Amino acid sequence: MKKLVIYGSKKLKGELTVQGSKNASLPILIATILTKGENILKRCPNLNDTINTCKILTILGCKTKRQENSLIVDTTNLYGNEISKHLMSTMRSSIIFLGALLARCKEAIVYLPGGCDIGTRPINFHISALKQMGIQVKKTGEKLHCKVKGEKIKGANIFLSFPSVGTTENIILAAVTAEGTTNIFNAAIEPEIEDLCNYLKKCGAKIKVTKNNKNSISIEGVEKLNPCTYKIMPDRIVAATIFSAVAATKGEVLLKSIKPIHLNHTLKILNEMGCLIKTYDDDNIFLKIKKPLKAVKEIKTMPHPGFPTDLQPIIMALSCFAKGTTIFIETIFENRFRHVPELEKFGAIIKVKNRICVTKGIANLHSANVCATDLRGGAALIVAAMGAHGISKICNLPYIDRGYEKIEEQFFKLGANIFRK
Ligand code: EPU
Repeated sequence: MKKLVIYGSKKLKGELTVQGSKNASLPILIATILTKGENILKRCPNLNDTINTCKILTILGCKTKRQENSLIVDTTNLYGNEISKHLMSTMRSSIIFLGALLARCKEAIVYLPGGCDIGTRPINFHISALKQMGIQVKKTGEKLHCKVKGEKIKGANIFLSFPSVGTTENIILAAVTAEGTTNIFNAAIEPEIEDLCNYLKKCGAKIKVTKNNKNSISIEGVEKLNPCTYKIMPDRIVAATIFSAVAATKGEVLLKSIKPIHLNHTLKILNEMGCLIKTYDDDNIFLKIKKPLKAVKEIKTMPHPGFPTDLQPIIMALSCFAKGTTIFIETIFENRFRHVPELEKFGAIIKVKNRICVTKGIANLHSANVCATDLRGGAALIVAAMGAHGISKICNLPYIDRGYEKIEEQFFKLGANIFRK
């Protein structure tokens, strides 16, 4: 198995264009099933998860073709409605196929989804919502056999007890061509969900997102959707990973094609930690270390617009270099501190109790041989290795490749000594 070899403490400097978002591209790729024809998805990242999504689309009868940064998906001849246990287990997003297949085929057979081991990650909200839309669900072991009762999926008023990202996406896909209107109350409103809605609206869907203290999404069912050409949003988590690695090396970077509004909370934290941040022309962000890194007191993960759980491991790695103590409170996933023992191998000082983790920053971390435990935990190890003195090695790269496109090439462009071997 190949490893990432990183010669740490090299100041990163330069400019990069940010890849398309993984968590937006997956539901959008799946949503193409709702159209019959050729969709062109621009800025669609080439990742393990998008490759596996294309494998599923192909098995269902669709044609997929990569042309540089774009993925072309022709859904004209979709004939299948069953996804194998193996393919379902390759990622969490596979469960979103359920809403799309039910809308197109009225029946679907899938299995429990996979995904990073960051918590129990049940699918009870998905199932409960689909049942409220007139879908019959028969669960036998890990197998789910779902059928639309009657002619069409029925619009419904659905209240989510927690604003689950995947559940919101599944409901949207089931609702866009359903009979009547679906209202999702306490909906997730992550930028990736808005991107999915924007793609669907371009295809002819009628969707309204209302953001207030009770976020809701209203979807009026339409007869049919048309394929379209759509440019996927830039990846805010990848952008924040690059910023953190640059900050850990006391460097500077200009990131292009990234929306500051998607990173509001994160930029505020990086600024508080001592980074100078300037935004240009709506979609370029410059970051430079202004003064020695200092700790922010408390970081609590919350659904959007709060601080994203996906960045908790990454900012934690940066906090290990910052003077002072930072308290991390993980409210979304109960098992998302698996990177901590690996960060400790770099000499980081961290204490964990239940969902709370406290880091005490030190000026210098030393190199280490570590293993990625999940996608974002793996990215956190890259941040630590970039800032640490000496040569570090990171194994379990398939986790990192789920979300980061040619990560070594990106950092190489910023002057990092990083190799995959
Ligand atoms: N939950 C339930 N029941 C459900 C669904 C969710 O209890 O039926 C719980 C989960 O166990 C968790 C919480 O609700 O405690 C939030 O889960 P959510 O459904 O919002 O997350 P997800 O859809 O499984 C997506 C992203 C994750 C990201 C979370 C939260 C994708 C493919 N995945 O997961 O991204 O952390 O939302 O923002 O969009 C990553 O990219 O590394 C990643 C894990």
